[in-house]
Amino acid sequence: MSFPATRLRRLRRTEPLRDLVRETDVTAEHLVQPLFITAGEGVRDPISSMPGMERLSISEAVAEVTEIAAAGIRAVLLFGIPASKDEAGSEAYDDEGVIQMAVRALKEAHPEVVVITDVCLCEYTSHGHCGIVREGEVDNDLTIELLAKTAISHAAAGADAVAPSDMMDGRVGAIRNQLDEEGHSGVPIIAYSAKYASAFYGPFREAAGSTPEFGDRRGYQMDPANADEAIREAKLDLEEGADVVMVKPALPYLDVIRRVKDATGAPLAAYHVGGEYSMLKAAAQNGWIDERAAAMESLTSIRRAGADMIITYFAKDAAAWLMRGRA
Ligand code: PBG
Ligand code: ZN
Repeated sequence: MSFPATRLRRLRRTEPLRDLVRETDVTAEHLVQPLFITAGEGVRDPISSMPGMERLSISEAVAEVTEIAAAGIRAVLLFGIPASKDEAGSEAYDDEGVIQMAVRALKEAHPEVVVITDVCLCEYTSHGHCGIVREGEVDNDLTIELLAKTAISHAAAGADAVAPSDMMDGRVGAIRNQLDEEGHSGVPIIAYSAKYASAFYGPFREAAGSTPEFGDRRGYQMDPANADEAIREAKLDLEEGADVVMVKPALPYLDVIRRVKDATGAPLAAYHVGGEYSMLKAAAQNGWIDERAAAMESLTSIRRAGADMIITYFAKDAAAWLMRGRA
């Protein structure tokens, strides 16, 4: 049947009609708020490249999570900014490191909030690479030992899930083995499976002070031109024991989200990264775009592409907008 018997505009006539047939929804339950945790006391240090985001010391982060949880967000992803950095990124796997202490404080104050930790070395290494550098290159097999050690210390501190973002080969298996051996078999791994070498990480690197001192990350992160490879990465991570696979960034890679979802059927996370957030913020600040509408449209598109959960700097604001929309 076609026009005039078929008129697709009939179901678009009113808000309740549109609501009845909407295929995709964005709700606070699907959103994860990233937080930057810094050493020190009483610190709320604005991140200039990411308007509205701040580096928080632990007690400030506890207060922030109170607000985030009140808005309806039930999961946070923690990134650490250590007091000092060295060649081996040793604060990453220090039981008294900034993240380990933050996890203990957050779980004590907010046991109901899911605390996910980023597992990588780049925020902790003096050279800013995601692993141990040997002869000018990141050494894969040495690095995965330290990543596993990092994941264990996060789990021991009480992390609800660990999220390795380094893109070393075999790190999911190494982390799974170690977690299981050390009595953390119930801690899931959210694997950054298809993490692209992206220009959209610029604002994050300013926030975390993790821009590589030499070279770039193309020797370990994926080539933006490749999508078949993303499926191979996701399948390998699942074979090694990943519980959730991730595609990152999100909007420029919606095709990859859909293909990985269809190929694996696994729970899928999409990371709506700093650059995606900053672009919308900058356009909104200039009065060129409606921030709320553009942000919600972006999140809806990421869900429609196949993401179960979305890690986004808009999480807290989106939850507030959704709550207001309902009232
Ligand atoms: C560290 C890490 C990065 C992001 C998450 N974990 C940066 C990078 O790989 O350079 C990016 C997050 C964002 O851009 O918002 N491995
Ligand atoms: Zn890294």
